[in-house]
Amino acid sequence: MATRANAGYGWDSFDSESYFQHYYGEPHVDDEVVVGLASRAIARAQPFGRDLETVDIGTGPNLFPLLCALPRARRLTAWEFSSSNVAWLEGELAARSLRPQWAHFWNVVERSYPPGSRLASDPLAVLRERAEIRQGSVFDLPEATWDLATMFFCAESITGDDREFERACTRFVRCVKPGGSLVGAFLVGSSDYEVAGRPFPILDVSPDRIREVLEPMVRDLEMETIGLVDREIRSGYSGMLFASAVRREAAA
Ligand SMILES: C[S@@+](CC[C@H](N)C(=O)[O-])C[C@H]1O[C@@H](n2cnc3c(N)ncnc32)[C@H](O)[C@@H]1O
Repeated sequence: MATRANAGYGWDSFDSESYFQHYYGEPHVDDEVVVGLASRAIARAQPFGRDLETVDIGTGPNLFPLLCALPRARRLTAWEFSSSNVAWLEGELAARSLRPQWAHFWNVVERSYPPGSRLASDPLAVLRERAEIRQGSVFDLPEATWDLATMFFCAESITGDDREFERACTRFVRCVKPGGSLVGAFLVGSSDYEVAGRPFPILDVSPDRIREVLEPMVRDLEMETIGLVDREIRSGYSGMLFASAVRREAAA
């Protein structure tokens, strides 16, 4: 098995609440930027003018990917591998109200969608109605199933193996129908991280490498770097790259 491969880590022991507290306990400006960019990209996502079947890959202990897609989504599938994160997500959706951190990011979503968008007054209730949490691996995603796929900090943050990163990106692109929309955020120039003392892998990818992997499979690729610094801000983190694209109609 390749070193630092996905299968070599204890994903079912991922401490979801520690991760949430460490990364989202205090909303970070870079995450606000990424939520704004994702919401604007999803608001204009093809196919336009109808509700979308959406999937978020590696949702983990994070509701903002689902909140960004909520105004356009007919149904949202959260495709998450770890049993602890699945249980955490189920608990989060069953809560009486959104945590203040999610309410904060929902405000960013509201400000980012254009006037006239259908914005829920009770996003948690609507999320509960539309969301389905599925336990599965990015490597087992079905082909050509959804209109829109989102993926935040997954392909590069589940492995230290470049071939697995490429396979995860390929699955991400191919899980939407040809002409379907893709919205993602990647950690760049980052190193392995710890959650509650347990190690997890991150592949140190550059914006050029992400472009090289995505470009043959997509059109209209737009990329933006956010908050890149030469020192670590949070465990494993030194900046990110936001990307949006459309899956090419011709088979890639
Ligand atoms: C760094 S976390 C990102 C979580 C979340 N998307 C976020 O934005 O904070 C990586 C996530 O990928 C999940 N994961 C690990 N291996 C996976 C796999 N093979 N397929 C799908 N998800 C996986 C982990 O359980 C975790 O939720």
